[in-house]
Amino acid sequence: MKRIFLLACASSLFFASCGNKGKPVEEPDNDDPDVVVVDDDNTLYIRQNVYDMDADNPVITGYQRAITQMQSLPESDPTSWAFQAAIHGKMSSDNPDWNQCQHGSFFFISWHRMYLYYFERIVRKYSEESDWALPYWDYSNPRQRSMPALFRENTGDNPLYIPERRPSINAGAPLSPETVSLDCLTRIPFTGTPTSLESFGGQTIPAPQQFWRGTGALENVPHNVVHNAIGGWMGSPYTAAQDPVFWLHHANIDRLWNEWISMGGGRMNPDDEVWLNTEFAFFDENGNRVVLTGAEVVNTASQLDYRYDGDPEDLTAPVLAADDRRASKPQKVMTEGPQEGKVELARVAGETTAFTSEPLTLSVPMEAQNLDMMKNSFAPGKNSNKSTYLTVEGVSFDALPEVSIGVFINVPEGSTPDFSSAHFVSMITFFDLAHLAHHDHGNHGDHTGEDAGSNFIFGIEENLKKLEAEGIDISDVRVTFALTDGVEPLEDENALADPSGAPVGTPSFKSVSIQVF
Ligand code: C2O
Repeated sequence: MKRIFLLACASSLFFASCGNKGKPVEEPDNDDPDVVVVDDDNTLYIRQNVYDMDADNPVITGYQRAITQMQSLPESDPTSWAFQAAIHGKMSSDNPDWNQCQHGSFFFISWHRMYLYYFERIVRKYSEESDWALPYWDYSNPRQRSMPALFRENTGDNPLYIPERRPSINAGAPLSPETVSLDCLTRIPFTGTPTSLESFGGQTIPAPQQFWRGTGALENVPHNVVHNAIGGWMGSPYTAAQDPVFWLHHANIDRLWNEWISMGGGRMNPDDEVWLNTEFAFFDENGNRVVLTGAEVVNTASQLDYRYDGDPEDLTAPVLAADDRRASKPQKVMTEGPQEGKVELARVAGETTAFTSEPLTLSVPMEAQNLDMMKNSFAPGKNSNKSTYLTVEGVSFDALPEVSIGVFINVPEGSTPDFSSAHFVSMITFFDLAHLAHHDHGNHGDHTGEDAGSNFIFGIEENLKKLEAEGIDISDVRVTFALTDGVEPLEDENALADPSGAPVGTPSFKSVSIQVF
């Protein structure tokens, strides 16, 4: 059944202050998906692309008004800018309502949707625009990779401009294509089986944990890499939500969740009881404490009264009836998934090696029988469901790195690693590891083995298949690491391009290995 909504802008329905921002307002027309249609007195708020807005668009002016208002409120007020940002993260804080962001697990996507929902209601109130909805930044659109212009205009009184960002970003340098890759949308399972990075949404865990180690594909790229590329406050979870562009970045991540669902093909939200029923606390526009669960946020239009301007009109996410929900199964937290029959084929190193500004290549020699096993794992017509994985172990750093690390295999000698080639595997990202760089805040969680560093497990089967098809020898697997700040160089020579040199935070790793499971 098709759901129809009324944009209840009440008396002003046909005035320019209401309806689609910046567009002439027409009478409702049932055939136009952008035009509001009458049903009951619910309002359906439309989240729109910030690139469609100019400086006097009410979404922009309303956001500026609200930010200024919220920044004038004391931090103790739950609707203040500072309090809202601290719900995400704040160093050295004991307030139990702060440091709630969920990273590195299957709660990442749903928690941020809830967080945006109440933030949007607060901004709507202070914006004095009754139909205000969050804009989103669609940086994966090749023409929209630069920080939206209105967010980098240093006019002296523009609260959208944050000087702490990476200088090239505030100068308008585009995010690089690999930073905004939407490869994550090709991942079918939501949760992390057999490895979290091969899933869309991250690892199943039995209870909320602010920073876990089962980051999903969407969270890794583009989410983490975009944070890092923007830099400044956006570079760390403890400060990120103070930058007004945080909310447009996350509206886009949230939009990508809807897009992923709309692609079908077996893409389903988790039916795990813990994911569906765990309550998270937020504050509404009146400062009242409120809770939401995953089951309450799977359909934005019917449950939360908003949609994205490009969402299919009839977008529905599978919402499982209570009886249909599988009883929750105990999950092993310390594993990435059931890596049954795991066989290690090759391993190098064992001592700490720094990632360097120049690409670093390691050869991972493999014995002949193991090479056969690896090739069999992706042979045409193979009858096992095993795949080949590359594991980078013991990734650590002292200060949070301001770069991400591209991981490549079998880059031809003497050539520059190419992010658009079949050699490119994925990225090692640091945003959701910020807690490992600091030891003086109040929310450690119960991580164990932090000193051993973090492991990144990447599927490389697609790379191997493509490389073999291109006639590239894969019998000697060589792994190359190349640092990137995630931003394209500015055309202007005197540019503010960040000085190259030793990477900040001296990230390092302990070993590289190849497995089949
Ligand atoms: Cu909780 Cu983009 O971060």
